[in-house]
Amino acid sequence: MIYEQPQKSVYIKTMGCQMNEHDTEVILGILTSLGYHEVGSVEEADLILYNTCSVRENPERKVYGHITSFRALKEKNPSLVIGICGCMTQQKLELENILQKLPHVDLIFGTHNIHRLPELLDRAASGERIVEVWDQGEDIIEDLPVQRRDPLRAFVNVIYGCTNFCTYCIVPYTRGRERSRDAEAIVEEVRALALDGVREITLLGQNVNAYGKDLKNPTDFAELLHRLNAIPGLERIRFTTSHPRDMKDPLIEAMAALDKVCEHLHLPVQSGSSEILRRMNRGYTREDYLELVRRIKNVIPNVNLTTDIIVGFPGETEEDHQATLDLVEDVGFSSSFTFLYSPREGTPAAKMADQIPEATKKQRIYELIELQNRISAATMAAEVGSIRDILVESYDSVKKTLLGRTKNHYQVVVEGPEHLVGEIVEVRITRSLTWTLRGELLGNHSSAVC
Ligand code: 5AD
Ligand code: SF4
Repeated sequence: MIYEQPQKSVYIKTMGCQMNEHDTEVILGILTSLGYHEVGSVEEADLILYNTCSVRENPERKVYGHITSFRALKEKNPSLVIGICGCMTQQKLELENILQKLPHVDLIFGTHNIHRLPELLDRAASGERIVEVWDQGEDIIEDLPVQRRDPLRAFVNVIYGCTNFCTYCIVPYTRGRERSRDAEAIVEEVRALALDGVREITLLGQNVNAYGKDLKNPTDFAELLHRLNAIPGLERIRFTTSHPRDMKDPLIEAMAALDKVCEHLHLPVQSGSSEILRRMNRGYTREDYLELVRRIKNVIPNVNLTTDIIVGFPGETEEDHQATLDLVEDVGFSSSFTFLYSPREGTPAAKMADQIPEATKKQRIYELIELQNRISAATMAAEVGSIRDILVESYDSVKKTLLGRTKNHYQVVVEGPEHLVGEIVEVRITRSLTWTLRGELLGNHSSAVC
């Protein structure tokens, strides 16, 4: 007689960037192969896992708050395993803090040893407290199972780590030096995804345009895009994040020339002041950035530019802040992720004099968000009347509408039938709302609901 192994349940919380989201897909892939299924609440879970982010202080505080509150669950159910992984565990001081303040955490691993999860979990489940964090990644581990959250769109890592050492940023310390994946492995993965029905991929890396420099047979990101563009069945290629300093002409030209590469570029500027950029160690000036944007706009019609901006970096004067506002206006980003500067222990900026008072930071971010909202509304309004292809991602059965995205990354809602989910359809943009566009289907698509 065959007995079914009892299923175990995992609740996983993912914080931070798309790299973490994708790490979670790998963790879930491994856990599924071990007989786990995902649940939506901690009360139902045999394993609670927090995949953490260290980029700013606030999410870190949340982790302590949440996990402290799980102590009662652990008392009720001693076999519950509580785990922490991701960037927080990679910082020595933070790790000591976790060990001291969260004694009921059973399992701690880092960003470099996710593939060791089966063994670590096995030992944690038998009552041992497991702490295994590696300072540096070994060779890149290929072919780990992945549980993708979306059948149409997939994340694909191309480069791990970052060696830029921007003075505010913790990532080079938590994710290690830059390590590119072998181009062949990436092409094979994308080919398999396309065969599996994936229409759109997003290539991931802290700095994707540094791709290939560290490989035995050096190649570059533009070359990789050329190879991926030739894969049958794949429709769209996106990537994030690009460093302005490494955004060279061959990549801009590849974006313009390759039909599957989307006309959206996330190009974090961080500040509009050359002096602040120098103190951040970004490797470009305000003028360099503006010149780069001019080149990009010339070569790629319809390009949609988005960015990241840090407000209140140490020593930021009112003039520096105005320079950022001017740059935002000048470039016309369709949206920006704006952050209050958060000092990260161990980074050079945390020790800089002239830290900016919180109230000043808040006033400045408020001004920046106001301006950005105005510009976002104008960039969306400029789309009205255009004809675009959207990849339909989902269907709202109540409103009988489809939600999709244009190649240049705007979200569009149109009335239409469910069977178009997964298809690329032509639409005319008719209206702009705050964060989405409204449109109407063109072509011969039946709008009857099947
Ligand atoms: N404080 C505030 N924002 C930060 N970022 C990175 N480090 C910090 C920090 N210490 C922002 C940058 C980066 C984005 C992912 O997070 O803008 O591009
Ligand atoms: Fe951090 Fe700079 Fe590397 Fe981006 S490029 S991950 S901001 S160090």
